Amino acid sequence: MVDLIAKKRDGFEHSTEEIQFIVKGYTEGTIPDYQMSAWAMAVFWRGMTPRETADLTLAMATSGDQIDLSSINGIKVDKHSTGGVGDKTSLVVAPLVAAAGIPVAKMSGRGLGHSGGTLDKLESFAGYQVERSREQFLQQVREIGVAIIGQSGNLTPADKKLYALRDVTATVEAVPLIASSIMSKKIAAGADAIVLDVKVGKGAFMKTVEDAERLASAMVEIGRQVGRQTVAVLSDMNQPLGFAVGNALEVQEAVETLKGDGPKDLTELALTVGSQMLVLGGKETELDVARHKLEELIASGRAVDKLAEMVAAQGGDAQAVYDFSRFPQASLKYEITAVKAGYIAEINAENIGHASVLLGAGRLTKETKIDLAVGIVLQKKVGDFAEKGEVLATVYANQQKLLDTARPEVEAAFQISESPVQASPFIYKII
Ligand code: URA
Repeated sequence: MVDLIAKKRDGFEHSTEEIQFIVKGYTEGTIPDYQMSAWAMAVFWRGMTPRETADLTLAMATSGDQIDLSSINGIKVDKHSTGGVGDKTSLVVAPLVAAAGIPVAKMSGRGLGHSGGTLDKLESFAGYQVERSREQFLQQVREIGVAIIGQSGNLTPADKKLYALRDVTATVEAVPLIASSIMSKKIAAGADAIVLDVKVGKGAFMKTVEDAERLASAMVEIGRQVGRQTVAVLSDMNQPLGFAVGNALEVQEAVETLKGDGPKDLTELALTVGSQMLVLGGKETELDVARHKLEELIASGRAVDKLAEMVAAQGGDAQAVYDFSRFPQASLKYEITAVKAGYIAEINAENIGHASVLLGAGRLTKETKIDLAVGIVLQKKVGDFAEKGEVLATVYANQQKLLDTARPEVEAAFQISESPVQASPFIYKII
């Protein structure tokens, strides 16, 4: 390992066998953390070739269990987001593309930071079971075309260990390490093809389009090298996605989007990601035809019915899809108003995300129990005009103390300008 660290430190390329040796040794514990840290730092400075990155991805993808989706007919297309505030896209896209005949066998995570992950959000449906046996999971997808469950088994232990190490050694921000980490998990989860939603902006991991493009290209290239067709959509995360931030609030917005009444940005992103999935899944050859088909599924009610079907199949209260009073409700409500008239120049996604954590919608440690009812619903988006005193956002809370701590953070998120403001595009690029 000392020789391999020196090799990467000096800017040379590893062979496939060397990468397999490193990943196997680290997973099994024969390579200690201090050597792996030094190697990760060498990669941070020297980078990796596309071939090395693909080798690292495959070595991590095969370091533990792999999900065999071969009993499900058709091309299995997975979707992944690099994460952002108010990102409920999976809740829209999974039932939507399933209604179009693309099988969705999705394993999701719980969130750390801002609001919960997809699993937490789904638990806003009373009774929803995220833990399913492998056979129940596969059978549900074969029968109704869609399932979203928690990760079970020992998937990508190498990534789990390396990601935790990178987190405490200032080596997270290395493109080949991020790209291989994300792609290894998708490959181990059985995806034949992958659509990545790479977020760009103040509330995202990647702050500039150039950085996001570098990460997206690295992941698309890994997909090419390992035979999993991959497309990356670069989407905006300067302001929260949609209006709602917080678990049950986001689920309601996702349901509205599936009914055709969603916010413009979320609808656009869901249709963009969804049509890419239809094309990768071989259902359509043209993106605009795919998009039109998805729009029809929304208009006919079939998309939202598919969500209800999935919720029911996993033991959840599917009636909530048609009756929002069945979702957890917050007991306190506070309106944030404009201190002066003007155009909304900024709604800082980081502030809103942090405020939602303060309210109890997200978790700071794995052990935190989250409050599904609380969060923030924006009434304005960047570029909108607000009169003095007009409501900018509504804060939903269950404890006065938490509401009082979160309120200044929501207020701080808003910047108002006297001159008109142009909002960032919803989608920057598709790679
Ligand atoms: N997300 C991941 O899964 N891995 C990384 O390395 C960074 C973000």
